[in-house]
Amino acid sequence: MTGNLLVRGGRVLQGDELVEADVLVRDGVIAAIGRIEPLEGMTIEDATGLIVLPGMIDPHVHVGWPGAADDFAAGSRAALAGGVTTFIEFAVQFPGDALDDVVKEWKRMGEASACDFALHAIVSDSRPETLEAMARVMDAGVTSFKMFMTSQHSGGLGVDDGTLYDIMCRVAELGGLSMAHCENDEVIGHLSERLIADGVVTAAGHSAARPPLVEAEAIARAVRLADAAGSPFYIPHLSSGEGLRAALLDTGRRVPVIAETCPQFLALTADVYARADGAHYVMSPPIKSTEDQATLWAGVIDGRVSTVGSDHCPYPRRFKDENAASDFRRIPNGVPGVETLLPVMYTLGVRTGRMTLADLARICSLNPAKIFGLEDRKGSIAVGKDGDLVLFDPDRRFGTAASDLNSEIDYSIYEEMELWGMPVATVAAGTIVAREQRIVDDAHRGRFLARTPGVALSEFDRRVVAA
Ligand code: URP
Ligand code: ZN
Ligand code: ZN
Repeated sequence: MTGNLLVRGGRVLQGDELVEADVLVRDGVIAAIGRIEPLEGMTIEDATGLIVLPGMIDPHVHVGWPGAADDFAAGSRAALAGGVTTFIEFAVQFPGDALDDVVKEWKRMGEASACDFALHAIVSDSRPETLEAMARVMDAGVTSFKMFMTSQHSGGLGVDDGTLYDIMCRVAELGGLSMAHCENDEVIGHLSERLIADGVVTAAGHSAARPPLVEAEAIARAVRLADAAGSPFYIPHLSSGEGLRAALLDTGRRVPVIAETCPQFLALTADVYARADGAHYVMSPPIKSTEDQATLWAGVIDGRVSTVGSDHCPYPRRFKDENAASDFRRIPNGVPGVETLLPVMYTLGVRTGRMTLADLARICSLNPAKIFGLEDRKGSIAVGKDGDLVLFDPDRRFGTAASDLNSEIDYSIYEEMELWGMPVATVAAGTIVAREQRIVDDAHRGRFLARTPGVALSEFDRRVVAA
């Protein structure tokens, strides 16, 4: 990274305030904030009339999942076009894989990433060699570990409770962060069979087989196991009010529990599964009811939900539609989301008056930076941090048609929704990489971010007492 970029005349988010200031990025790092005279050799970017936000951090994407539409290259371009300058991808240990090799392979794939990236590891067994490898993986900067409690949509990645507990114990020993895909495998399997036998074969069946109970029961179980293991616990893609209550119920636990929800749960409701194109919205956990959505919004606003991750995992229409009319169990799970994360949160969060821009930046940048050990470089606009900025126009519409989006996906789940907030320019490490939803620097490459554990996760812990 070389050169100086001077972003002039914008209103820069500093804490809770928008401050009229210039931002100088030197060699990829923020060097000064204030009134800065342009000097020879500086590239000047006029931000007059724009808000300058920190680059968004999406803590939950899948850009290496086999069969999904976006690889690192496409997914990261989509991210940057939408104002996300860092994402955290999941390196997947498929059954039998050696965990070290998995992380090496994912880091290699990440060399194609246009944005900065970090990795979580998905662990699918507790063999001695896997538990040993977890220490090396931690040393390599991969400090969070996700386990699947269900195999229904994950291609056999599900682990039993004993394995989950063993892995959590190892995470605790190493000082990492456990995560789990919390859904009750047996109940989903049982309900799915019954629905299919009753002739409910389309996407509506996917949703009906996963009522809130499925999530809430698994969350309660996982929290108990994480507590017994002594491992801090992060719940990705929380979708239901019942799940949130189960997560935060004060059982006298010792470990912090942190919840993440997804933009699609905040923007859409389960009605989508009755549509002719309902398969396009199939993901796990599925999108839930209006009441669930209201509870999740309340949690985002009052801090019981700490982060919003897109769970970006898009599949092309042809894969989604292949079995859509015959067997919902065979519809690949996952929806696009990284590119629309910021405009969805701006439109439904800030524009509606639910939250401030500072709240948005906290939830979509600072909190993930803190929770996942990236705060020394990311999460806010401050001297010494990476020069990742979004020059943002809140009064411009964000294009939601598939043709407006950079993801390789051939449909859009927000096509019918009016989204506001245009990343007029996205700056990654001091380089302007995207303008108005288009990539303008094809050569830019992101970096792998090795993370360090041990941040004060208790800051994010919230507890509720049963009524
Ligand atoms: O349906 C989803 N969420 N697919 C991606 C994998 C996962 O469970 O996060
Ligand atoms: Zn999951
Ligand atoms: Zn996911």
